Amino acid sequence: MARKPPPRRSSAPQDKPPSRSRWEGKAKPDWLSRALARAGAMPLHEAEEAIKSGRVTLNGRVVQQPLAPVPEGAVLRVDGVPIQREVETRVLAFHKPADLLTSTVGQHGTGTVYEVLLPQLPDELSRYTWHAIGRLDRGTTGLLLFTNDEKLVAHVTSPETHLPKRYVATVQGTADEEKVEPLRRGVLLEDGPTRPAKVKIRDAHTVEVSITEGRHHQVKRMLGAVGLPVRALHREAVGEVVLDVPEGTFRLLTPEEISQGLRFSGAGAERTHGQH
Ligand code: URA
Repeated sequence: MARKPPPRRSSAPQDKPPSRSRWEGKAKPDWLSRALARAGAMPLHEAEEAIKSGRVTLNGRVVQQPLAPVPEGAVLRVDGVPIQREVETRVLAFHKPADLLTSTVGQHGTGTVYEVLLPQLPDELSRYTWHAIGRLDRGTTGLLLFTNDEKLVAHVTSPETHLPKRYVATVQGTADEEKVEPLRRGVLLEDGPTRPAKVKIRDAHTVEVSITEGRHHQVKRMLGAVGLPVRALHREAVGEVVLDVPEGTFRLLTPEEISQGLRFSGAGAERTHGQH
């Protein structure tokens, strides 16, 4: 049987967003609609409409393709108004209620955290594209951070950053020091050993666990592995940022909370922790 020839590089569609791996470690060029959304000029879907209707110029020329690449230093205008592209990193601390999915940006269907968060945002913040920093399971409550800066997502979620995430679990069974001790050394899960966790028993059914990784259902699996199945899980803190807003609401973090609480020093920060 004749084998299909591999796709030729030159035949790749020109309007596709650049792939992640191609730009690994380099300054990634944006495409037009995303550059506008990232700059906080307008949300992504509005940017696409504005571009198609000829309201946007790139270095003085009208461009009507939302996926047109934007070279570094290019000047963008919407309705003739220049867009400031160097955008401050913004972070929202949201108190996630139970029964909401942490969907990814662009999947704002029903029952997601975006449905509760986005309608609350003032005009000034609603223009950004907000990325959830990591995920909480549907039933998990507590601190969920959102940011307009994808570098910060990479920084906080990378295990190389060693940023602790503190959870409090309500467990079935009775917690005692002997049971939780293996978690302090690391336990073997089906996807490999866990790093040593900080564990405190608050009472017989309440255990505090701090981890520096973020694998799928990790805390539930860790506690399950030592015979303490989780009935409810709540995240209290990420780094030094502690949840302090009522359920379903949010607040904006200060620049100090971002730099010190999340140990984020801006562009490329995640690479200072061992990534290449
Ligand atoms: N670990 C879990 O098991 N679930 C979460 O939602 C977060 C961490």
